[in-house]
Amino acid sequence: MSAPIAFTVNGRPASLAVDPMRRLADVLRDDLGLTGTKIGCNAGDCGACTVRLDGEQVASCLVPVAQVAGAAITTVEGLTPSDGSLSALQRAFLEAGAAQCGICTPGMLMAAVEAAREGDDGSRPAGAEVEDALGGVLCRCTGYRKIIDAVLTASIGLTPIEAPGVGRAVGARLPKVDGEARVRGTALYGADERPEGCLALRAVRSPHARARFVIGDLGPLRSRHPGLVAVLTAADIPGQNRYGIYATGKDQPALAEGEVRHRGEAVLALVGDEATIAAIDDRDVPVSWEPLEPLVGVEAALAPGAPLLHAASPDNVLVAGRVARGDVEAALAGAAAVAEIAVETTAVEHAYIEPEAGWAQRVGDRIELHVSTQTPYMDRDEVALIMGLAPDAVRIVPTACGGGFGGKLDLGVHPLIATAAWLLGRPVRAVWTRPESMAASTKRHPASIRAAAGADADGRLVALRFHGDFDTGAYASWGPTVAHRVPVHAMGPYAVGAVLATSRAVYTNSPPSGAFRGFGVPQAAIAHEALLDGLADRLGIDRLEIRRRNALRAGSTTATGQVLAASAGLPACLDALRPHWDRLRAEAAAHNGRATSAGEVGSVGEAARAGRARTRRGVGIGAMWYGIGNTSMTNPSTIEMGLGRDGAVTLFSGAVDIGQGASTVLVQIASDALGVPADRVALVSGDTDRTADAGKSSASRQTFVSGNAARLAGLDLRRQLLALAGVADGAAADLAIADGAVTVAGAGGRTAAVDLGELAEVTGFDRSTPCVLLGRGRFDPRTTPLDADGQGEPYQTYAFGAQVALVEVDVDLGTVKVLRVVAAHDVGRAINPTQVEGQIHGGVAQGLGLALLEAYVPGRTDNLHDYLIPTVGDVPPIDCLLIEDAEPSGPYGAKGVGEPALVPTAPAILGAIDDAVGVRISTLPATPDRVLAAMEAARSRA
Ligand code: FES
Ligand code: FES
Repeated sequence: MSAPIAFTVNGRPASLAVDPMRRLADVLRDDLGLTGTKIGCNAGDCGACTVRLDGEQVASCLVPVAQVAGAAITTVEGLTPSDGSLSALQRAFLEAGAAQCGICTPGMLMAAVEAAREGDDGSRPAGAEVEDALGGVLCRCTGYRKIIDAVLTASIGLTPIEAPGVGRAVGARLPKVDGEARVRGTALYGADERPEGCLALRAVRSPHARARFVIGDLGPLRSRHPGLVAVLTAADIPGQNRYGIYATGKDQPALAEGEVRHRGEAVLALVGDEATIAAIDDRDVPVSWEPLEPLVGVEAALAPGAPLLHAASPDNVLVAGRVARGDVEAALAGAAAVAEIAVETTAVEHAYIEPEAGWAQRVGDRIELHVSTQTPYMDRDEVALIMGLAPDAVRIVPTACGGGFGGKLDLGVHPLIATAAWLLGRPVRAVWTRPESMAASTKRHPASIRAAAGADADGRLVALRFHGDFDTGAYASWGPTVAHRVPVHAMGPYAVGAVLATSRAVYTNSPPSGAFRGFGVPQAAIAHEALLDGLADRLGIDRLEIRRRNALRAGSTTATGQVLAASAGLPACLDALRPHWDRLRAEAAAHNGRATSAGEVGSVGEAARAGRARTRRGVGIGAMWYGIGNTSMTNPSTIEMGLGRDGAVTLFSGAVDIGQGASTVLVQIASDALGVPADRVALVSGDTDRTADAGKSSASRQTFVSGNAARLAGLDLRRQLLALAGVADGAAADLAIADGAVTVAGAGGRTAAVDLGELAEVTGFDRSTPCVLLGRGRFDPRTTPLDADGQGEPYQTYAFGAQVALVEVDVDLGTVKVLRVVAAHDVGRAINPTQVEGQIHGGVAQGLGLALLEAYVPGRTDNLHDYLIPTVGDVPPIDCLLIEDAEPSGPYGAKGVGEPALVPTAPAILGAIDDAVGVRISTLPATPDRVLAAMEAARSRA
């Protein structure tokens, strides 16, 4: 036994006899129960584990505990004042909306502590100082801007946000209803719970992209490791060893059966005590491999004679999509100008800071999973299939979700922890490492797009021809969604005379591509926005103006033949951007020392090389539209709102808040519908035993779809109360809830009281929060199936937006710095403007990463050191212009913004690079070598 190591934590003495080389982060979490300190990488890259060591910020995953002997450690738990209130910094984070998913928040807070303080001379922190302080902590959600704001304002204190009154919650900047736990560090994520007697599970994964394998005799391994309780193979899966999003796409095994189709695929699982599982070297596990030549990229997969990944797809094409309207070739032939583009994008990693994690336990004949997820009901049904159980024998209890962005719509740890817990009768826990998360989780589809567009002399679009091949990787996952959504959106938010848009999702031996904020639309937008720029330049039309002329608007007919009845606010977005566009272009021109008219951009790079400027600035614009919810299929949400005998109001919401703020938005909507203050409403969220199915948190659907359901639930509960009070439904009436009674004050001063104590409990309501009245709302957006030409109504409503980016290109190095983004988004109605801005900031940051930084290469960028996501220094100031073109069918007019915020960013940045140095980068990301090579090629062509 080692000698105890003594130190203080949050002012309290600690003395632990532990291995001196253990990571401080692990000791804090596992031995001292301080799970506010998070682990995102265990490699010093993410900063989630940041604590203060004798006042200095350190990454506690890199600090051996021996090093802290005699030192003073402060963790996030130590920020909370002894009276239980929030510190000024925590409060600033909460009120500024600086914590979305919250997994980075403890690290951010600890990194910010010093920078947030007022100097002895009363000086206030400066932006650069704050950015320096936060530079070691990654956030994937917020785009950092609200975190910076929070740190800058913490020392002066913000004017506290007043709780909105009755009927005023919608539109208010309400702090997140689940925000306090995040800034206190008490929110429990997938890795934060370790039930009594829990075993650990770790998968052994393929080092090969394609191989056959044989598992040898496991007896010697078990003998060498007595703490190894079980080794699971495919034969142990109790039910169907095939899962997948679509009924026709269940092709992914929980454990591979003799053949692996991508690097990182699980072949067996080790279950035992944590130390044993961690100590086993994969090379000691008896698996013999026969590596095979993998299919890398769609070209290889589509080549004649290519081996097949799945027998059901004889040409390796999972699915194809198509939208056709009019005679495209004739329209292109008659166009005054034609532009063409070829776009290649790469795999992009979600890089949520919380790797996949959770635990499972068997409860009688049921299995219960506590997991980080975006979609509890889909998880329930998938796990039921794998376990061979009825869906109601599976309970999913979502933990706090440390970021999803689509990646946690697929199963992660679920199948294996469920199987192990079921078979062993003990709780089983799994936490993926960062490399494991990156190797085994889904990616944004790499896209290979060829497109052409034609316009008349006025710049009106007459034709678009588009084809995109999307690398869907080894398994179907969300490939069908991408293949069907892309052709609908391929022409961008424009009215186009004739369209032929086709797509294919193609199997390869890459990790499965899945859902990632936009389902292929961001890749398509890179193509259609390049075409718009190309046509504008050829026709001598301002790039914003050509978008204005072609913008879809109320009354327009889309390429699928849908007439947009209302709420199509792109013209308003572009009008709002106009002064910013003009100002930024003037600024860029001033920087460049010359005009930046379209006719001159071709020589800009040379001018710079001639020594007149080392950097060139440019301004670009991107526009988008996005159908809210699933494409042409049913997509319902059910939300309930209950009233307890004591007058407690509870919203039962199965919509998981993955940081985007769904819980807060739904409380705001439902409380206004019922007619009570938002702070009277308690929330039960996500648990499949306690909430109804509100669908998945994806496709930007929760505000529109679940928001409508929440509004209907509130109205239903109100209707029941008014009926009991003898007040006509729909009549003006104020509700007051106190002492187990509801007083209904109707018109003319008439009041009636409803004694809740006299009401029977709602029966058939299998929830642990009893109610005497229950309002229920269900909403399913109106869509129609698409015919063979993609004609129909794929979505009930669409979000629109446009962004302008100012960039600076170093013409010697090829580096691109984004200096400012102005984002205008038509969200219908901003239910919570702080959260809408937060979504826009986060979307812009991810779009910037897509444009300039991010490329996932299996086996090479499986960590947050080699895989670059934007840091606080990469994300520029972002101006948000909220356009509220109310959607009549939306809850209080709202639509959605989660995915729309990302779509226009990369096109705007790429257009700005083109504006600055005269080259259109269409193979992403636009890394310095690609920018320099393109400039060189342009020069040699000149
Ligand atoms: S967990 Fe320590 S830096 Fe990422
Ligand atoms: S709030 Fe920063 S990673 Fe989610």
